[in-house]
Amino acid sequence: MICSGLLLLATTACYYDVEEELYPTIDCTTEDMSFAADILPIIQNNCYACHDAASNFGGIDLEGHQKLKVLIENNSLLGVIKHQAGFSPMPKNKAKLLDCEIEKIEAWIAQGALDN
Ligand code: HEC
Repeated sequence: MICSGLLLLATTACYYDVEEELYPTIDCTTEDMSFAADILPIIQNNCYACHDAASNFGGIDLEGHQKLKVLIENNSLLGVIKHQAGFSPMPKNKAKLLDCEIEKIEAWIAQGALDN
């Protein structure tokens, strides 16, 4: 009995500590991703401040499907947003994209990274 009580306490503590549990991403839809409706707004809101055609920091211009496609083919888009080793973590000096945003981008890529 004591044991299960402690376990419950521990579980409750964890529950409130983990941000993802407080804001569950269960309703993160990743089916039939559309570049225009789902992906472009994420890139615009989080990346264009530094990577539109005018302010292409680090020589990276993310405006338009075609330019993103190049970064998908060399794996750097997922590398930077997932903070993988060997890539500069993006958005630079800002919080990582939400798990759901990353999942949408991954799903869109898996679905062929269409210009849809
Ligand atoms: C506050 C400005 C800023 C924001 C916002 C930003 N970047 Fe960057 N990014 C930079 C700078 C500066 C560099 C070049 C220097 C470096 O790598 O840190 C860069 C480099 C990159 C590179 C090449 C680095 C590599 O390791 O290959 C990619 C790809 C990239 N950014 C993608 C993104 C994406 C995708 C977003 C949005 C999710 C984003 N950036 C948001 C400033 C920014």
